[in-house]
Amino acid sequence: MKEIIERIKSEVAEQVIKSEQDLENFRLRFLSKKGEVSSLFAKLKEVPKEQKREVGLWLNDLKQKTEQKFLESKERWEGKSKNNQPSIDKTLPGVNVLSGNRHPLQIVQNRMIDIFTKMGFDISEGPEIEDDWHNFSALNFPDNHPARDMQDTFFINGDISLRTHTSSVQVRVMERKQPPIRTISPGRVYRNEAISARSNCFFHQIEGLYIDEGVSFADLKQTLFLFVQQFFGKDTKVRFRPSYFPFTEPSAEMDIYLGTETEADNRLTKGTGWLEILGCGMVDVDVLNNCGIDPQKYSGFAFGMGVERITMFQYGVKDLRTFFENDVRFLSQFRTI
Ligand code: DAH
Repeated sequence: MKEIIERIKSEVAEQVIKSEQDLENFRLRFLSKKGEVSSLFAKLKEVPKEQKREVGLWLNDLKQKTEQKFLESKERWEGKSKNNQPSIDKTLPGVNVLSGNRHPLQIVQNRMIDIFTKMGFDISEGPEIEDDWHNFSALNFPDNHPARDMQDTFFINGDISLRTHTSSVQVRVMERKQPPIRTISPGRVYRNEAISARSNCFFHQIEGLYIDEGVSFADLKQTLFLFVQQFFGKDTKVRFRPSYFPFTEPSAEMDIYLGTETEADNRLTKGTGWLEILGCGMVDVDVLNNCGIDPQKYSGFAFGMGVERITMFQYGVKDLRTFFENDVRFLSQFRTI
């Protein structure tokens, strides 16, 4: 009996299991009910009593080793087949994940905001649906004053309209807060204009407001110079032209010099070399009074600029409508990263 057990033991040890089929053959040959190991147990009956214990130990040892080999091979085989699954083929080209990018107007607006926040301006917002007081009256546009004709307005009903400029936000900020005030208000505005390559019925502005004791026109100029230098480059030439807005006195418009060398510069500047980029001025005493700020104590300046025009200039975009058509071929050119 011992020899048989030893023989089977060495046969078990010699078995090479290389496939699922080998594994099954091994199980059938040694471990199944009629397999070689199991049938030896049946023969235990025939072993003389005194040897039973010893043979039993050998048999158990054989069974244990055989089962161990079976389990180890099984694990190895299953692990291998898992790893061999063709689910990851490292030679295949990767899947291209399309990431979005910012809208060009947003890119330019963010750059502007960045420059002003570094100068200490905070950001304030107001509603796009605005009442007459905040959009016109508080800003010194009297009823029936011709200044109201400067802006063709989308009226909703009675006093309520879509805001025609972000200057309405200055009124809201001043009503809410006493100076020092240093804020910019980016936002969308609406005007009842014919849509063309140069104008649209809605567009974006950034309004600026600075109110404190002793603020002068020199502060206004210096702030805007600094902005222009940072935004358009250090050597950008700037000029102020006297202008008129009902809510500032004195008022001005600021131009930057592009020259007339290229065809685009000529077109943009209508042959003058100068591109108007913003309106500005010292906040009118009446506006301060309207908003509950004491003009004896405080003074300030305001400015407003259009984001579309500056974005068109920055990127050489010829038609403003392309900003709003959501054509991915256009928009994907403005990757920021
Ligand atoms: N609200 C003016 C516009 O829409 C722009 C503007 C001009 C804003 C002068 C100002 C300012 O704050 O001082 O055309």
